[in-house]
Amino acid sequence: MNTLRIGAQVGAAKAAARLLSAFGDLFAQLGRPRWLEDPYPLYERIRAKGPVYRAPSGIRAVSSFALCDQVLRDRRFGMKTAEGVTMPGLGSVQEHFPESFLDMDPPDHTRLRRLAAPAFTPRSVESYRPRIGWMVEDFLSRVPDRFDLVTEVAAPLPIAVVSDLLGVPPVDRARFAEYGALVGAALGGVRPVRQAKELIAAAEALFERLVREPRGDVIGDLTVALGEEKLTARELFGMAMLLLIAGFETTVNLIGNGVISLLRNRSQWELLRADPSLAAAVVEETLRYEPPVQATVRIAHTDVELAGQRIKAGQMVAVLIAAGNRDAAVFADPHRFDITRAGVPEHLAFSSGIHYCLGARLARIETEIVFRTLAERMPSLRLAGPVRWRPATGPPQPPRHPELSWACAAARAAKTSSMWSSAQVLMVASTGSSEAPSGVSS
Ligand code: HEM
Repeated sequence: MNTLRIGAQVGAAKAAARLLSAFGDLFAQLGRPRWLEDPYPLYERIRAKGPVYRAPSGIRAVSSFALCDQVLRDRRFGMKTAEGVTMPGLGSVQEHFPESFLDMDPPDHTRLRRLAAPAFTPRSVESYRPRIGWMVEDFLSRVPDRFDLVTEVAAPLPIAVVSDLLGVPPVDRARFAEYGALVGAALGGVRPVRQAKELIAAAEALFERLVREPRGDVIGDLTVALGEEKLTARELFGMAMLLLIAGFETTVNLIGNGVISLLRNRSQWELLRADPSLAAAVVEETLRYEPPVQATVRIAHTDVELAGQRIKAGQMVAVLIAAGNRDAAVFADPHRFDITRAGVPEHLAFSSGIHYCLGARLARIETEIVFRTLAERMPSLRLAGPVRWRPATGPPQPPRHPELSWACAAARAAKTSSMWSSAQVLMVASTGSSEAPSGVSS
């Protein structure tokens, strides 16, 4: 019954978005399949409408670097309403996920983020570097001449790292990896809600076991905090799920997006090949140019004036991270993938303000090692087939998923979904030197 209700709501959301889109709502159009591969011209059209785009649906969207950064840092905006109300859900599968501190405002956000933070200090995270290096070497040593980068490397790596981080015992790792993949599919609407609920229940059982016999630093610390009543069991579960999801999907897509950008801009690949120490620069430029999280959402806690426009308390503002990252006022020639950029501010791919990504350093290490190892071990790497962009994960997937275009689009759903990356590249990479098949750009 519940499943049917949810399905109906999601269906209605899609229909509403299609309708809005047909009536010229540029924000709603971001969710349409035609913009999946290259949404950037549409961002430019939104930008051209002014600093704060008022979509016919009622939603406001900011696209300049300065305003995106401002909204993310401004404490007059939050994840919930000022009264602490999570906006009524869209009825999507995300309603069944436990709330995490990404969904919260201070003081709960501050309390829970502080408990998770010790696992992400520079020292803790750096200690993963050698192991990540071995894993990448191992994955790459096993691939044939033609291989799917996402399946063989980009997906297994982050799931293995998050498993380490959470102390998932070896015997449970395969199942845990499956949860990671299924969570993505469920959020993408690929799997039915019923299956997602079963999956969440199974993940909860696994996490309960981890709490009883903690191995990893994170769960170990959190279990102590649980005993000291610094958080509830539900909050702990929410945090574990957040780490699983946040650390998985985003990193997979950053790796995919980086490699496709390099191979489509061959001169940049050649630069990296010649000097693999540029790998860290590739990570930063990919985060700017093709950010895995394309947008996020905030809710005004009070009436706020933004670039001369009044945003009413309770109103939702979409922060178009991917558009801010291509703001010509900040990044010269913004639509060019250029790993030699210098003297530019940090992009917005990891957000800004109090919700700045806790796993940013870890993600940077993982992807840097992948790009460097690929350049060293597979200098003749190239696309061996057409790139298939995975459909935007959602519902609702900002900005490439229509539900966000609802004026009443749920803060919880929208914001949570901002964690899922928007574009995953499925590709076959080839280490061989035979000519590229047709339809392949390089
Ligand atoms: C390329 C990889 C990643 C990207 C692009 C990314 C992006 C983001 C963004 C944009 C946010 C903030 C969303 C908002 O402001 O609404 C965020 C938050 C977060 N990320 Fe990441 N992330 C990545 C990898 C990771 C990893 C590897 C982990 C941990 C294992 C992680 C853990 C978190 C957590 C815990 C938060 C919540 C922070 C808070 O609310 O205070 N992320 N991430």
